[in-house]
Amino acid sequence: MALWDTLTESINHYTGLSPAAFFTILALMFVTYKVVCSMFVAADDYAAVKRANEFVLREPVQMGDVTEEELRAYDGSDPSKPLLMAIKGQIYDVSRSRMFYGPGGPYALFAGRDASRALALMSFDPKDLTGNIEGLSASELEALQDWEYKFMEKYVKVGQLVSKKTSESKEAETGGEASKHEEDESQENRTEGNEMK
Ligand code: HEM
Repeated sequence: MALWDTLTESINHYTGLSPAAFFTILALMFVTYKVVCSMFVAADDYAAVKRANEFVLREPVQMGDVTEEELRAYDGSDPSKPLLMAIKGQIYDVSRSRMFYGPGGPYALFAGRDASRALALMSFDPKDLTGNIEGLSASELEALQDWEYKFMEKYVKVGQLVSKKTSESKEAETGGEASKHEEDESQENRTEGNEMK
């Protein structure tokens, strides 16, 4: 108690303020300091923002045939890889919309996937994260078509989903002749609604 009395006396002696006024001012100064600090970006955060921008600016690279399993790796968890998403088996580079599809983004669950069914149904249910469009109504298919048009207009198509690699696409991947592959028959069937594993 004696310590507290000495403290309050000292505060009053040196500042002319009552202890209550002194501590109120101290608290306000602390809050002001915190608010001002939050208005500036820390050096580390700045570097992170710069890295994110570099990611967005990278040119889309043609991938050719890609399996669903391979596509998963392009969900944004590896910043050195582009962000890819598929609609009706067509793969688009959505890196420029990292704020939507990147980690923590509202539509991150679609990245690295064929999101046809989820988009047609306007669903975030993980069970709808599939390219299987079987059993959809005419209006749902129309909604999906609108999404496809939006993606065709906004993003670069970089490949197509295939159920398994052909020897031709493997050759292209291992440094053979870089070529765009014709849509394979099985892919065509898949987008018509056949479930992929
Ligand atoms: C409360 C409901 C929702 C609101 C308020 C909302 C709002 C928005 C907004 C403001 C945008 C940005 C549009 C732009 O700048 O181009 C957007 C984009 C998008 N939304 Fe939603 N949304 C909602 C629900 C959904 C649902 C249910 C889905 C699908 C399951 C969905 C899928 C998308 C996709 C894929 C994009 C990005 C399109 C692109 O890449 O440009 N949204 N949404």
